[in-house]
Amino acid sequence: VTVYVPCDAAALSVGADAVAAAIAAEAEARRVAVQIIRNGSRGMLWLEPLVEVVTNQGRVAYGPVAPDQVAELFDAGFLDGQPHPLGHGLTEEIFYFKHQQRLTFARCGLTDPLSVADYRAHGGFAGLERALTLSPSEIVEEVTQSGLRGRGGAGFPTGIKWNTVLNASAAEKFVCCNADEGDSGTFADRMIIEGDPFLLIEGMTIAALAVGARQGYVYLRSEYPHAVATLREAIRRAYEQDWLGTNIHGSGHDFHLEVRVGAGSYVCGEETAMLESLEGKRGMVRAKPPIPALQGLFGQPTIVNNVLTLTSVPVVLAKGAAFYRDFGAGRSHGTQPFQLAGNIQRGGLVELAFGVSLHDLIYRYGGGTASGRPLRAVQVGGPLGAYVPESMLGLSADYESMAEAGAMLGHGGIVVFDETVRMARMARFAMDFCAVESCGKCTPCRIGSTRGREVLDKIVAGENVADNMALLDDLCTVMADGSLCAMGGLAPLPVQSAIRHFPEDFA
Ligand code: NAI
Ligand code: SF4
Repeated sequence: VTVYVPCDAAALSVGADAVAAAIAAEAEARRVAVQIIRNGSRGMLWLEPLVEVVTNQGRVAYGPVAPDQVAELFDAGFLDGQPHPLGHGLTEEIFYFKHQQRLTFARCGLTDPLSVADYRAHGGFAGLERALTLSPSEIVEEVTQSGLRGRGGAGFPTGIKWNTVLNASAAEKFVCCNADEGDSGTFADRMIIEGDPFLLIEGMTIAALAVGARQGYVYLRSEYPHAVATLREAIRRAYEQDWLGTNIHGSGHDFHLEVRVGAGSYVCGEETAMLESLEGKRGMVRAKPPIPALQGLFGQPTIVNNVLTLTSVPVVLAKGAAFYRDFGAGRSHGTQPFQLAGNIQRGGLVELAFGVSLHDLIYRYGGGTASGRPLRAVQVGGPLGAYVPESMLGLSADYESMAEAGAMLGHGGIVVFDETVRMARMARFAMDFCAVESCGKCTPCRIGSTRGREVLDKIVAGENVADNMALLDDLCTVMADGSLCAMGGLAPLPVQSAIRHFPEDFA
């Protein structure tokens, strides 16, 4: 019997290793042959550790499983997929999972993350194989036609970025992957690296072929030690099997890939600070222009893309631009891995085409608040994203609709708060976060965030509220207009959206 127990960090954090050990011990005691495969997470985090048993009908899910429930599962016949209070039937029939449109996360949780054979057996490297038959401009054209936009948050068209790098003449070019996933409530980059690391390797290799780069770096945050270890091992195996290195599968192309680990700075997720850090310097933001596409790593033309952008590329090449473009709404093409977090019953990853409503994500998938109290606010797009009130949850989750409503989709993180949230405190948190994480290069952010925190403290304490609110508004305008990067530029967004939608909390 084959049993899957995730090795994803979210599953490990709730005892997946102990569950795997308990299953092995119980099987041995009962003299049954059980093969345990450690897979990535299916993304249903509230069910972790989610144990799956392979049956003739498909994989049957049980979770969340505690080590001391394993014997009882054996007694109930879980190895034959028999019912049990922890059972959920066939994994792929679970509502949360069944209705997703998994293009990027298609393999995540299904396969052994470090098995090249498993990756191949489930369609892996098909995109790269096709890319090897195309010219660089044909690859760029395919990505342009797919409508793929940067999943790091800004939504810049990937094909246009790649074209800029392709057309820049230089002896050396680079591909850098931004895996410094710092937004609160986000974990998609981590999940895909831990659950399907060859997908990132494949996407980066395609990017390298598209622009003529021979060296790539993945900038991975130190807070993700499991992802670092998994990706390093996957890279080693990809070299071993000729998917990386000189003369990739006899094509005459070479591409080398290394992991670089960050040191805990949020602003190193800003692309130019990330490049500084990759060069071995302190992670300070550079002024743009020049854009990294023209002068990036070590001054050379560089593709900087987020993990989710690069891991969307293989399916575009494998299935064609038209297939990918068909998903989505308006100018937001393809799918977005949404991440449900905070005070929510069913937290986890939901990959769907752009255009799903926030309401559907939070209620149909997420099941509403975990506390059972009424929902009051939702922060979308990380700590610098806007707060959205319950009355606006009908909003379509796509780049343009969110922007029109004064919010942003960012990296797809959705953090839910119930009625107990105090919005003035959340506004203060935004300024505090900015003060702590500011790189210090420009005045509106470095000084403004500290002053913003002070003013909000006065407002919370009820001191000269009207005057201080006017001062805060003025300060937000200066920060939004005058900051060098999105850190100081976006910090006013949570503050002002909280004031706009929840004025009673600032009275
Ligand atoms: P941006 O709009 O300045 O740039 C977007 C990308 O397009 C950059 O890579 C830029 O170099 C590139 N670009 C711009 N013009 C170009 C051209 N003509 N040719 C080629 N490339 C060009 O946005 P920025 O500052 O890079 O990112 C801001 C976003 O980051 C925010 O919207 C926010 O959602 C997101 N964010 C994401 C976080 C995460 O953890 N993923 C954390 C914090 C913010
Ligand atoms: Fe640095 Fe903040 Fe200015 Fe960005 S906005 S360059 S983080 S000081």
